[in-house]
Amino acid sequence: MVTSRTPRTRQAAALPAHPDPAVLPLDLPTPLLGGLSPVQFMQRHWHRKPLLVRQAWPGVTPPVDRAGLFELAASDEVESRFVSRIGEGDAQQWTLRRGPLPRRSLPPIKQGGWTVLVQGLDLHVPAAAEMLRRFRFVPQARLDDLMISWAAEGGGVGPHFDSYDVFLIQVAGKRRWRIGQMPDAKLKPDLPVKIIENFHHDEEWVLEPGDMLYLPPGWAHDGDAVEGECMTCSVGFRSPHRSELVRETLLRLADAVEDERDEGTRPVVYRDPGQRATVTPGRIPQALLDFAEGGLQRLLKEPGALSRALGEYLSEPKAQVHFELGQEWDGVSALELDARSCMLYDDRQVFLNGESWRAAGRDASMLRQLADSRHLTAAQLRRASPELLDLLDQWVADGWLQVAADAPH
Ligand code: SIN
Ligand code: CO
Repeated sequence: MVTSRTPRTRQAAALPAHPDPAVLPLDLPTPLLGGLSPVQFMQRHWHRKPLLVRQAWPGVTPPVDRAGLFELAASDEVESRFVSRIGEGDAQQWTLRRGPLPRRSLPPIKQGGWTVLVQGLDLHVPAAAEMLRRFRFVPQARLDDLMISWAAEGGGVGPHFDSYDVFLIQVAGKRRWRIGQMPDAKLKPDLPVKIIENFHHDEEWVLEPGDMLYLPPGWAHDGDAVEGECMTCSVGFRSPHRSELVRETLLRLADAVEDERDEGTRPVVYRDPGQRATVTPGRIPQALLDFAEGGLQRLLKEPGALSRALGEYLSEPKAQVHFELGQEWDGVSALELDARSCMLYDDRQVFLNGESWRAAGRDASMLRQLADSRHLTAAQLRRASPELLDLLDQWVADGWLQVAADAPH
């Protein structure tokens, strides 16, 4: 599988079947998107305008119950927040506490106006990871996580905006959403939570279990639990800042440059036998600047270097992710990616949890299949090369892959 041959990508005329059977055909209307197909949704709404879908997900159940959510929020392995609002108008007081949140630190349920939010539920609860599969018509590199919030009556995080595309799925109780376009909105000063000053909304809906609201980044929104407690799942897709991508790829490129050698032996050092005697010893020699710039350009031009650094960054697990090491595989049974694993690829490489491999030919197709559908059947695995089987075995031992039922469920 480690080869320098780069397979060509061919443009298919018709939409290919999605490798994950849980994802509806991309060109068929689906209730999840209010009767639009994933193709139409992406063309008309994605990153453009909101979409309210009544009964997008009929019969949806919360991936955890209230007690389970509070238990997660109490753990130091889980990212959680508590937000409460007391009072109205200018007298309103906001409190933010970051987890871990022991149950005794939370107000009584009957006291309204507070909420607990648990980030990255998909990393801890298989049912939450399962929910994400419905949204795999969007590139994984944009996916952030599934967040869940529980709110006592009147609870919410207040009017704000996010730099995320988000699908807000109402999974229990009712939440009133108010949304508005406020491009010049300012935040209220000196508050622990980011609250928009003078929030005004254009639309208002009460979402019931199974309803879903899609919001692009930058739309002001405010959601409060109404008529009792409620739970909302948010599937969030992050829009990375370019500066972050540049910083992170440069950091990784810098790591790779440490070992630059001349014809494989001597470190590349600056040599200046042509340097003249100077009356301006403070000035940096132009040749030295050119030398540094040349090295940087060489690095950026190296085929695949930038994409490797980017792929490694984008597939890096979140800080709180730990894998269970030491699992075993018989070398033939079906495999699936662990829910915490992030697998991506480009034309030359595959990336898994912050590491990269060059792959080509049949092994590359198989690894791409694994990245797209998160699953490989026993029949598919029979076509793997011995090198690929070794690699998969290592990934199982690392806890990145799990032995699975043969057909993806
Ligand atoms: C919430 O679930 O309370 C907040 C979700 C959001 O506004 O992004
Ligand atoms: Co929000």
